[in-house]
Amino acid sequence: MHSDLRPTPRTRRSMNLSTRPVHPSDLPQLYRICLRTANADGTDGTHLFEDPDLMGHFYVGPYASLEPELCFVLQADDAPATPAGYICATRDIAAFRRRCEDTWFPPLRRRYPLPDASDRSGAEQEFYALIHEGIDLNADAAAYPARLHIALLPELQRRGGGRLLMDALLERLNARAVPAVHLEVNRRNTGAIAFYEALGFHRVAAYPQAYVMGRTLA
Ligand SMILES: CC(C)(COP(=O)(O)OP(=O)(O)OC[C@H]1O[C@@H](n2cnc3c(N)ncnc32)[C@H](O)[C@@H]1OP(=O)(O)O)[C@@H](O)C(=O)NCCC(=O)NCCS
Repeated sequence: MHSDLRPTPRTRRSMNLSTRPVHPSDLPQLYRICLRTANADGTDGTHLFEDPDLMGHFYVGPYASLEPELCFVLQADDAPATPAGYICATRDIAAFRRRCEDTWFPPLRRRYPLPDASDRSGAEQEFYALIHEGIDLNADAAAYPARLHIALLPELQRRGGGRLLMDALLERLNARAVPAVHLEVNRRNTGAIAFYEALGFHRVAAYPQAYVMGRTLA
């Protein structure tokens, strides 16, 4: 992980927000942000989980730990110690799945046993099952090898922070000659869909509950 917490050379600012590389000590707060935006529509999902870390173990931890160079944190000038948002990604989802199978999921699978098929109705059980399935490979997104996840604290949304984080990531992906990036978003998350469309993403595939959205890079 990056040990230098000073803003990246071209510090990106919008109002009182800026981005910086992730640091291992950010992880607990990034897990909290993930949970506070965990609902299908992007709102607080705290009430859905007894274990507050489950979502983070799937959507944040592996990315920030295995590809920290593609994870950026948003911070507000008046509270620099507390991350206000994050974007994390992998440059190659197929290779990332293999790394996660080798190193990330085995201990988690021992900690979170696979529930019976008859007991997978709630969000908690669903994530136990996801931890056992591992990172999904989406054939519809094969031409978009990178995958990203992004979330901001509710009180800091709609202030340009999401755009700052996306700019930081896309610049880094471009510098690594990654051809395209994708993500999956729930159909109920209309705010996030509008955000992605505003930033140049288009719908790559449509499923009953979600869209895959993608963007090619320079
Ligand atoms: C989606 C999210 C990352 C966007 O970040 P943000 O900081 O709120 O967005 P920004 O302020 O940078 O918005 C950039 C542009 O996106 C569009 N946009 C963002 N949110 C929007 C919304 N709710 N409705 C309509 N347009 C929106 C606008 O065009 C906006 O430009 P403008 O402010 O000049 O009009 C953030 O709202 C979030 O964390 N949501 C909860 C978690 C989540 O849903 N993550 C995605 C899961 S797939």
